[in-house]
Amino acid sequence: MGGVLWHREPLLPAARRHHGTTTIIGGREYLNFAVCDYLGLSLHPSVIEGAKAALSEYGTCVSASRIVGGELPLHQLLEKKIAAFSGTEDAIVFVSGHAANLSTISTLIGEGDLILHDEFVHNSVVVGARLSRATILSFHHNNLEALEKLLARHRARYRHALIAVEGSYSTEADIPDLLRLIELKDHYGAWLMVDDAHGLGVLGSSGRGVAELFRVDARKIDILMGTLSKSLASCGGFIAGEKSLIEILKYKAPGFVFSVGLPPVMAAAALAALQVIENEPERISRLQANARFFFEEAKRADLDTGNACVHAAMVPIMAGGLSCVGKLMNRVSARGINASPIIYPGVPINAGRLRFFITSEHSVEQLGAAVSVTKEELDRIVRSAPHHRHAAARSRATA
Ligand SMILES: Cc1ncc(COP(=O)(O)O)c(C=O)c1O
Repeated sequence: MGGVLWHREPLLPAARRHHGTTTIIGGREYLNFAVCDYLGLSLHPSVIEGAKAALSEYGTCVSASRIVGGELPLHQLLEKKIAAFSGTEDAIVFVSGHAANLSTISTLIGEGDLILHDEFVHNSVVVGARLSRATILSFHHNNLEALEKLLARHRARYRHALIAVEGSYSTEADIPDLLRLIELKDHYGAWLMVDDAHGLGVLGSSGRGVAELFRVDARKIDILMGTLSKSLASCGGFIAGEKSLIEILKYKAPGFVFSVGLPPVMAAAALAALQVIENEPERISRLQANARFFFEEAKRADLDTGNACVHAAMVPIMAGGLSCVGKLMNRVSARGINASPIIYPGVPINAGRLRFFITSEHSVEQLGAAVSVTKEELDRIVRSAPHHRHAAARSRATA
C-alpha cells in the first residue's frame, strides 16, 4: 500500500497538531474529518483543567493494577458518574475500549455457551468471542430476522447465550433496532451486549446513547459498553450494567485484574467531559444538526452513503474497490480534506469508502465544502474510469 496507490500515507499520517476541526499533516493544514472527538471536548478548557489538576495531584501513572494498590478515588468517581449518566446501576473502567470488550466477553462466556454477533461488530468483540471458546455465529448486518432464526435453531443447546451488537456502527453509520433486540433477548433468554462507542455523546436528546434514542431504560441492555476515547476526549473503555455484573468483572476480568489502572489524567479528563456534556447540551444538538446536514448534503449531491442513517455522526461515502478509494482519498486530500479510507478487511473487498466523522465544532461551510469536493472528485474519477461506477454499485450490494 505504498506510494503508487496513495499519495500520502493513508493509514498512519502523523498529525503535528490538531486544532479542533483542522489538523496539520506533513506541514500542510487540512480540514479534519478523521477523528471521533464528536463534541470537540479534547480542547475544552474544563477538560484540560481537570486533566492538569489530576496530573499535579497524582502524577502520570498509578503504576499498579487497581486491585493491588492502583485504586484512586478518581476511578470510583468516574465509574459512579458513568453509571449515573448511562442510567445503569454500576460501571467498571478499563484502560481501553478494546480491552473492555475482549476481557468482558471472554470472562462472562465460555465453552458450552453461544455468542451471536452482527457481522460488522467491532474487532474487539470478535477477538473476545474467539478467546471465550464459546460457539460463535454471526448474522447478516442488522438482519434481526436472521438473528431470530439462529436463536430459534440453536439457543436451546447452549447454557448461556450472548447477542453482541453496536449502538451505531462505525463503518456503516447505521443503528440496530434496539426494541426488537430486547424482545429477542427476553424471548430466547439471552444476554444483550451493546457496544455504544459511537452512540455515547451522539445519540439521544442528551447524548446518553442508543438507549436514549429508542427511549428505552438502559437497564434492559445487560452489558452496555462505551469508550472514553471518542466523545469523552480521553482514553479507556467501560462496561456498565448491574452491580453483580460489575463485581464479577472487577474480580475476574483479566484486562482489569492483570492490567494497570486508568492513568489519573485520563480518568479526570473523562469525568470533566461527562460534566461538560451535562452542562452544555447545545453541543449535542449542534453535533446532531451537523451530522444531519452533512448526510442530507451528500444525498442531495447524489453521493452513495451506503447504509448510513441520519442519526449517526459519521458518514461513509462509498467508492468501491481499493483503487477507487485510493484515488478519491488522494484527490480530496490534495484539496485539503482529511477523511479516513476504510478498506478490506475492515469492510468487504468492494465496499471501500471514505469515512467522514462529523463533530459539533465543524461549521456548515466546512461540511458543505467537504461534500462538494468529494462529489467533484468522485465524479471525475468515474468519468475517467467508468468501471469505478460498477465497483461502487457492487459495494452497495455487499456492504
Ligand atoms: C465500536 C468500537 N468499539 C470499541 C472500540 C475500541 O475502543 P478504544 O479505541 O477505546 O480501545 C472502538 C474504537 O475504535 C470502536 O469503534
